[in-house]
Amino acid sequence: MSERDEIPLGRPAGAEPAVAMTAEVTADEIDLTDEVGLRPRTLDDFVGQRELKEKLRVVLGAARKRDRAADHLLFAGPPGLGKTTLAHIVANEMKAELHITSGPALAKPGDLAAILTQLEEGDVLFIDEIHRLSRQIEEVLYPAMEDFRVDIVIGQGPSARSIPLPVAPFTLVGATTRVGLLTGPLRDRFGLETRLEYYEPDELEQIVVRAAGILDVDIDGEGATEIAGRSRGTPRIANRLLRQVRDFSDVDRDGYIDLTVAREGLAFFGVDDRGLDKPSRGLLLAVCDRFGGGPVGLKTLSISVSEPTETVEDVYEPYLIQQGFLMRTPQGRVATASAWEHLGLTPPVSHVHRAGNVAEPADETLPLGLFDQE
Ligand SMILES: Nc1ncnc2c1ncn2[C@@H]1O[C@H](COP(=O)(O)OP(=O)(O)OP(=O)(O)O)[C@@H](O)[C@H]1O
Ligand SMILES: [Mg+2]
Repeated sequence: MSERDEIPLGRPAGAEPAVAMTAEVTADEIDLTDEVGLRPRTLDDFVGQRELKEKLRVVLGAARKRDRAADHLLFAGPPGLGKTTLAHIVANEMKAELHITSGPALAKPGDLAAILTQLEEGDVLFIDEIHRLSRQIEEVLYPAMEDFRVDIVIGQGPSARSIPLPVAPFTLVGATTRVGLLTGPLRDRFGLETRLEYYEPDELEQIVVRAAGILDVDIDGEGATEIAGRSRGTPRIANRLLRQVRDFSDVDRDGYIDLTVAREGLAFFGVDDRGLDKPSRGLLLAVCDRFGGGPVGLKTLSISVSEPTETVEDVYEPYLIQQGFLMRTPQGRVATASAWEHLGLTPPVSHVHRAGNVAEPADETLPLGLFDQE
């Protein structure tokens, strides 16, 4: 903290923030123009996550007041909850330029060193999927985060020399769906680590109403509540379902979305009353039907639904676990009684015993290796 306190920001007050794309950017930055248009731009427009927002408000406010770069920030949580959106908001609130890159896009330590040495005072560097940085690259990041310096190694073998280059005081914003995979030294260097939680139905309803306004969709309160309730706690899904139901209504109904049209549209696109879509239901069905309710190991389960283990773990499982349909146990994944009930299936007697006696809901932030004994 102390070194950054001594260095004032270079950017003139009131200068327009800009976004610089560095290395590769993630697909959702470029392709989903609709989604980008729906991104809230300020902290006030950002719905929900009250506690996180309060902390950010204080951290950013203090940095602004002292005219310093804000402390490094880490946003963790399942996909689609607003991590990238928050990175944009941080830059916007600080009137700073945003540079975007991601863990997999940085192949060599030199890639990151080049980005860091080109930053200007107060810039925000967003590293998406920061848990996928290699160890070598992480080591470039440590002195940059702590002492605003990178060490460039010149030459090889005994004659190799390390030359320190200065880095302008900047704010690193890291996003990750897997905070458990971050190394301790990296995690420790963030001034604020926050976890995004699934959104409450009333928050999602606000998000649906806001998006409907931006997309010029005709929807009533009950229609919005219905879509919100089936969005799996996730703004990205809420926005997607809204667009799907809008398309359904535009083509097969009269363009207006009320409760009936919302229900019909959601059913048309295969979203059930708990918000599970086909792949999520397919996963539960595999556990119950093919593996007798489990326990089944992550790899076996992933192969059986033809998805990468990462997708199963990061995209499908967190919500199923949060809703009490699925449990992670030391022996593997286990379906709960509500999963069987939801799928309209009867659990075998032996499974009821196993699930009731042995399995405990696992802490999803613990490292993967603890649960998978395949
Ligand atoms: N709090 C919010 N209020 C309103 N809209 C939101 C909010 N959070 C997210 N959204 C909407 O959801 C979309 C997805 O959010 P975002 O891309 O920030 O998620 P993410 O956490 O970065 O996901 P991923 O892990 O897949 O990168 C955004 O385009 C935005 O429209
Ligand atoms: Mg993102």
